[in-house]
Amino acid sequence: VTQSELADYLQMQRTAIDRALELSLKIYGGQAQAILKAMRYGLFPGGKRIRPILLLAAGEMFGAKQKDLLPFACAVEMIHAYSIIHDDLPAMDDDDLRRGEPTAHKVFGEGMALLAGDGLLTEAFHLISGPEILRTLPAELVLRLIHELSHAAGVAGLVGGQAVDLESENKDVDLATVEYIHVRKTGALILAALRMGAQIAGAKAGDLRSISKYGEYLGLAFQIADDVLDGLGETLAGEGAESGHKERRKATYPSVVGIVQAVERLRELSKLCDRELAPFGGTGESLRAIAENIITRAIQDKGRATEESIS
Ligand code: IPE
Ligand code: IPE
Ligand code: MG
Ligand code: MG
Repeated sequence: VTQSELADYLQMQRTAIDRALELSLKIYGGQAQAILKAMRYGLFPGGKRIRPILLLAAGEMFGAKQKDLLPFACAVEMIHAYSIIHDDLPAMDDDDLRRGEPTAHKVFGEGMALLAGDGLLTEAFHLISGPEILRTLPAELVLRLIHELSHAAGVAGLVGGQAVDLESENKDVDLATVEYIHVRKTGALILAALRMGAQIAGAKAGDLRSISKYGEYLGLAFQIADDVLDGLGETLAGEGAESGHKERRKATYPSVVGIVQAVERLRELSKLCDRELAPFGGTGESLRAIAENIITRAIQDKGRATEESIS
């Protein structure tokens, strides 16, 4: 798959996800209510939509129909959107910008931003537990998926990771703690997205294990890549960097082991992702290309940064 083929694929999946997200909020009518406006602000135009894309890719790889996957893809993106709105709040990372636009609390106030997050998290589970879902998927499977998603979003996953992230601010933490945070605050939802897609498709136990391994490596790599790029944003763009974290020192891979070792770890994780997908051959191509895209972007930018600082 070439870079431009991948770009087309990602765009196509994004379009399907955006349409499904629109539909999922339609049940409440336009955006008359303030809460819906704030929730939509967190969802649209959105970012890379990487989690729902991974869910679709894993599902389609094992033969699931996109129609059956989309509600779950939307739920995962809603949980991501909620986590970002809350993450940016003054009581957490206190960020004013997200994707180049003012953060939700800057636009709607802190109270409404809190509620928009609460609303998105709750709607996610409402969406995947409704009667329409049960018309096409067995209730037992749906229950298992809800259980997995809540596990990933909760104390064992995203919420637990965010809590330790918060506790670790301005402290000297070791690499094990950094990984603990990453695997939970970011990795868990990515892993759940992949596993949900594969399970909706009825993937065999061994295949599900491989996809899970891939998901664990990719989830960790995703946060390291994000921190590597964030760090470069600060050094390259100076004060203007989006995620400046207002002087708070965060537990990140680059801050604990340095950027060179962080990039080394990314290379290692990239190889591990490929290894898990190798048995699938061409069927695993979209997942392979997505991992390469995420990981190489950070590695390449790091290369550029080094050249610039030398010249
Ligand atoms: C940002 O996630 C927060 C992290 C968990 C690193 P994304 O990079 O997926 O954000 P968007 O949705 O594409 O903007
Ligand atoms: C965000 O992590 C993780 C979640 C929202 C769960 P970060 O705080 O590192 O991500 P950015 O830099 O704000 O996107
Ligand atoms: Mg944070
Ligand atoms: Mg943040």
